Amino acid sequence: MPLVEEPERKVSVDPERSSGFQAKKREQMEQSRPIMDRSRMLFILILLVFILGNCNRVPSHDKTRLRAGYTSTPYKLPIPPNFPPMEMPEDNPVTVERVRLGRKLYYDPLLHKSGSMACGSCHIQDWSFTTFDKVLPHVNLGWNRFFLWDGKIEGRLEDVMLYEVESFMQTETARLNREKQYRRLFKEAFGIDRITSKEIAYALAQFVRTMISGDSKYDQYVRDEIELTPAETRGYKIFFAEKGGCFHCHMKPLFTDNRFHNNGLDNVFKGDNRGRYEVTHTRADMGKFKTPTLRNIELTSRYMHDGRFKTLEEVIDFYSKGLKDSETIDPLMKNVDKGGLQLTEQEKMDLVAFLKTLTDISFINNKQLSPPEGSQHLVQRPNTSASRPVN
Ligand code: HEC
Ligand code: HEC
Repeated sequence: MPLVEEPERKVSVDPERSSGFQAKKREQMEQSRPIMDRSRMLFILILLVFILGNCNRVPSHDKTRLRAGYTSTPYKLPIPPNFPPMEMPEDNPVTVERVRLGRKLYYDPLLHKSGSMACGSCHIQDWSFTTFDKVLPHVNLGWNRFFLWDGKIEGRLEDVMLYEVESFMQTETARLNREKQYRRLFKEAFGIDRITSKEIAYALAQFVRTMISGDSKYDQYVRDEIELTPAETRGYKIFFAEKGGCFHCHMKPLFTDNRFHNNGLDNVFKGDNRGRYEVTHTRADMGKFKTPTLRNIELTSRYMHDGRFKTLEEVIDFYSKGLKDSETIDPLMKNVDKGGLQLTEQEKMDLVAFLKTLTDISFINNKQLSPPEGSQHLVQRPNTSASRPVN
């Protein structure tokens, strides 16, 4: 009878100790265990295969053990059926150990130079991992290639995480290296003895990669599981037809085209309003910003790169009659001379109703994305039910 381990249990991977230990354990079990009859064994085996096949993790005998102390249990990302495949970095495979470590780091204020602020302090799950003003949400970033409002960081999640760790949080790696628990977790996840910003970034990238939102009312509708209300359906039609033209930039299924546009917010560009120009120093990029995803948009007020709008109604009003013409305004913006789409009150309400179908309740309630249990550096989740404070 082969030794079958629970998929999540840690295995000791010090090769010498483990093989001796396991052989001995096996011997003991073989001696003491009453002989099972074959059909019972077969039943248990089938049951196990079924259980293992149904969870995200693979059985432990599939684990690759490259170095002593290093365990890598492949992690299967739950990519929604209506989403494109996600490109994976070759030098950072998604593993259970890395995702778990990334989650712990994400919620640990130890990461900040001052020791007082975690990623999860500003990126809060209840609000699709945003908080105030201009914080960008963490949703489906595994498909992103440009990060931050002006796309200052281009590349993979690993690259933006390195920026966050080194430049934004200014993480002191010495602190983590002093913590026995972190030394063990990094050893398990990466097989290293000395923690550097690179592995911190790599673990965070893997956790953020699991922040996948694809089970909104809209997705359920696309999968033919539910119907939309008449108002939502009318809003859907405005959004996905030339009437609204929203779909050109907020493209399904991610509701962003991963590009930069000037959607007509300003015609004078200074300070924070220059956007992509700050990165490329090309005049044609003046006032262009990354198209934000509209997934969970109901939860992520305030809106736009400077948080100028508080409600979705204000955003729609802007697209309807607030556009400002300029040299770089996107050619996709219609009726610029009249200020925009000129929607009726009914059409505006319908569009807002549609935008709210992009709210994914299971995403904000997903326990695997919440602060991990038993973390001594836990960030308190704010006491919220639905609304968040807007200032
Ligand atoms: C003090 C609040 C705060 C903290 C703490 C914080 N962030 Fe952010 N985060 C922001 C703001 C604000 C933005 C948008 C900034 C911009 O675009 O210039 C942002 C943007 C991002 C983005 C870009 C998202 C996109 O769509 O392009 C990523 C990724 C990110 N943060 C990850 C992290 C990680 C990882 C941590 C912890 C290591 C962290 N943040 C900690 C406020 C914060
Ligand atoms: C030409 C491309 C383009 C089109 C068309 C477009 N948008 Fe946008 N949208 C953007 C960009 C770019 C931003 C961010 C602008 C900024 O902050 O400076 C944005 C921002 C938003 C935001 C705020 C997102 C946030 O997280 O702050 C909402 C909501 C929105 N758009 C909805 C719509 C709707 C509804 C339509 C159709 C009526 C539409 N957009 C059409 C490019 C576009």
